[in-house]
Amino acid sequence: MTSSTQISILKIVQAGDPVLRQHARPLSLDELRGPEITALIEQMRETMRDAPGVGLAAPQVGHSIQLIVVEDKPEYIERGDPDEMKVRGRSPLPFQVLANPRLTVVDRTPVELYEGCLSVADFMMVVPRVRAVQVEALNHAGAPVTLSLEGWPARILQHEIDHLRGVLCIDRMNSRTFTSVRNHGRHVDGRTVAEVLTEVGHTDDVDAPLVNQIVD
Ligand code: CO
Repeated sequence: MTSSTQISILKIVQAGDPVLRQHARPLSLDELRGPEITALIEQMRETMRDAPGVGLAAPQVGHSIQLIVVEDKPEYIERGDPDEMKVRGRSPLPFQVLANPRLTVVDRTPVELYEGCLSVADFMMVVPRVRAVQVEALNHAGAPVTLSLEGWPARILQHEIDHLRGVLCIDRMNSRTFTSVRNHGRHVDGRTVAEVLTEVGHTDDVDAPLVNQIVD
């Protein structure tokens, strides 16, 4: 006999899927506490852990509803370079479910760091985010919760809540930093974002006329 409690891993949709561009609808309390959403939450948790990722929004698994799960495990952080983790302001974020979240900016100091998205698989890019936020939402049981976050956890929440509004990290990125994960490992790891921006950040060529006007 096999276990009847096996949880399936959901398919994560990729950029270009229309569901990622929709405004997700809020959940009612009855829905949130009901069996369908309860099962979906479990599947989203396992899908996020399997990826692995530190956040997953319902539109990424094809549901246009205001539901996200987040989790940054201590072992994910311990695996990284300590200096890099410090630069990122990375600190553990216990697993939680957030429905119908509302985000308020607490400190709008911009922070430019590389991030990625499970729906823009195998790429990374510098995305400016604000330093600190407050998030009000409902938890899995429908109880109101308030999170005050700064550093990396604040970035995770900004990224995931964007998904509920049909916004992707590529909409906010510094496009000249867009890189495959492999090339990030080759050319970015061990350097500061400031160094990379100095190297790739000039936009003179982009501002040039589209039609070549080469004069000889
Ligand atoms: Co994402």
